[in-house]
Amino acid sequence: MTHMTEQTPVTTQTAKAVPTLPDAQTVTEVKHYTDRLFSFRVTRPASLRFRSGEFVMIGLMGDPDPKTGKQKPLLRAYSIASPSWDEELEFYSIKVQDGPLTSKLQHIKPGDDLILRPKPVGTLVHDALLPGKRLWFFATGTGFAPFASLLREPQTYEDYDEIIITHTCREVGELTYGRDLIAGLQTDELLNEVIGDGFWKKIKYYPTTTREESPKMGRITDLMRSGEAFTDLGVPVLSPETDRAMICGNLAFNLELKEMLEGYGLVEGANSNPQHYVVEKAFLD
Ligand code: A2P
Repeated sequence: MTHMTEQTPVTTQTAKAVPTLPDAQTVTEVKHYTDRLFSFRVTRPASLRFRSGEFVMIGLMGDPDPKTGKQKPLLRAYSIASPSWDEELEFYSIKVQDGPLTSKLQHIKPGDDLILRPKPVGTLVHDALLPGKRLWFFATGTGFAPFASLLREPQTYEDYDEIIITHTCREVGELTYGRDLIAGLQTDELLNEVIGDGFWKKIKYYPTTTREESPKMGRITDLMRSGEAFTDLGVPVLSPETDRAMICGNLAFNLELKEMLEGYGLVEGANSNPQHYVVEKAFLD
């Protein structure tokens, strides 16, 4: 706060809006995809800089404590689904009916406030990978979110010749957010101008479902083990010479895929030690 002097008009001090929540940001758009999934956009704090692929803590005020009446923020880690250049922030979330946060968060509407701690972190960033030819994004469910950011990040296309995005979901409707986003890249005038016309031709999209009929059924891990995924995609098995990978899904998926990638000879990287692949949990309620 600036030091008040007699010359400082008092009105500049009192005119400031008092935020109802700490670190409040305003919801600008909400889209529901299935009874389990929705996305929303919020205003971006002017001071927030992040690298595409990182996450922040967001949430709402919890219910008042029955004894003291005090309310505490209820926060969860959410990958930022929008790219670093976007003037707003986008998030992609599961709805858990008895989840402490998402049971409430699923009812947000444009104009509502939520809490957003402006401290981005995460390992699914380009800085954690060595240069390579082909970049794999492996997602299940809402694990698609960081890739929604990275698929709209110019550096992804500057650094790689080919980008393969696999997304395994239980049901077909759970693929909609990712499918629409990828289809939208073709007609995105700004990105085609900035990255180069037809940049999206570098993307190979490989959606699979496990519990509802779709053109490609099965877990990506099984489809890779059998070799079917590589045949379908027309690419060789991953190798540390050419391939880089980012993993974001449920815990069992992350562990299984990590073991597979290690089996191909890839080494896990970090911000401080760039290597061949990186992993992050898709955080659930
Ligand atoms: P499945 O239906 O066979 O369990 P969830 O909604 O439970 O997070 O799962 C999202 C998707 O990830 C589902 O299609 C699920 O397949 C798949 N999945 C769960 N565990 C693994 C795993 N260990 N390896 C590959 N895919 C998995």
